[in-house]
Amino acid sequence: MSTPRLIGIASGKGGVGKTALAVGLAQALARTGRRVLLADGDLGLANIDVQLGLAVRHDLMAVLAGNVTLREAALAQSEGFDVLPGRSGSGGLAALDPGWIGRFLAVLRCAPHDEVVLDIGAGLDPVPRRLSAGCDTLLVLATDEPTSLTDAYAVLKLLTRDAPGADARVVVNLATDAGQGARTHAALDRACRGFLGRGVALGGVVRRDPQMRDAIRHQVPLLTRHPGSNAAQDIEALAARLAASRAAA
Ligand SMILES: Nc1ncnc2c1ncn2[C@@H]1O[C@H](COP(=O)(O)OP(=O)(O)OP(=O)(O)O)[C@@H](O)[C@H]1O
Ligand SMILES: [Mg+2]
Repeated sequence: MSTPRLIGIASGKGGVGKTALAVGLAQALARTGRRVLLADGDLGLANIDVQLGLAVRHDLMAVLAGNVTLREAALAQSEGFDVLPGRSGSGGLAALDPGWIGRFLAVLRCAPHDEVVLDIGAGLDPVPRRLSAGCDTLLVLATDEPTSLTDAYAVLKLLTRDAPGADARVVVNLATDAGQGARTHAALDRACRGFLGRGVALGGVVRRDPQMRDAIRHQVPLLTRHPGSNAAQDIEALAARLAASRAAA
C-alpha cells in the first residue's frame, strides 16, 4: 500500500485563511477522486471541527494516547473526505510527551488515504516548525500585508534549514485578483532568491471572496455552499495542480 502525500498548510501569521483553505482543498482534492484525510494540526486553537460544525467524539489526543485508532477517530464527511479533529474540548495538550510530533506524523503516514491535508497552526514555534518540516509539500499562505509576507518568509527560511530541498509553494490568499497575487508571490520569491539562495514556487492565488465567510458562518464547506464562487474556483485550480504534480511524480 502506498503512503499518502502529506500536504501541510502553514503561514507564520495567524488568521490568513489556513483552516478555510485546508477545508476547501480537502473537498476539492476529494472531488478529483483522491481519498483525502483532513487533519487538524493546530492543537492550541484547533478549529476545523468548528468550521465544519462537527460533533467530535474522539480527537487526535485520543489517537496519540493509543485509546482509539485513526479509523475510529476520523469522521467521514458527506463531501467525500475524512476529518481527524484536533480536539474534543477536553484539553490534554499539556499532557503530551515530547515524542508526540513524530508519532503524529507516523500516524498520518499510515493513513489509508492518498492525500493528507494538514492544517498547521500559526507561528514559528517548534510544533508548527517540525510539522512543516515533516510534510511532503508545504503550502505557505501569505497575503499582501507586510506582516504576513514577513512571517511567510520566516517560515520559508526555517524550512530551508530544517528540510533543505523541501517542496514549498506559496499560496496567496485574500488577493484582489490574479495579478496582485502574482506580485505578492514575486516579492516573496525575490526575498528567497536574495537571502536563501533559492526561489519559491507559486502554488496558487485565492481571491478574497465574501462567500468564504458565508460558508464558514454556516459551517458548510465552500464548494458545497458556493460552488462556482471565485474562491471555490481558485481552490479547485490549486487542487488540480496538486493532483497533477502527484500524478507526474
Ligand atoms: N479567500 C477568502 N476570502 C474572504 N475571506 C476569507 C478568505 N480566506 C479566509 N477568509 C476569512 O478569514 C478569516 C480567517 O480564516 P481562517 O480561520 O481560515 O484563518 P487561519 O489562518 O486558519 O487562522 P488561525 O491562524 O487563527 O488558525 C475567516 O473569517 C475567513 O472567513
Ligand atoms: Mg486556523
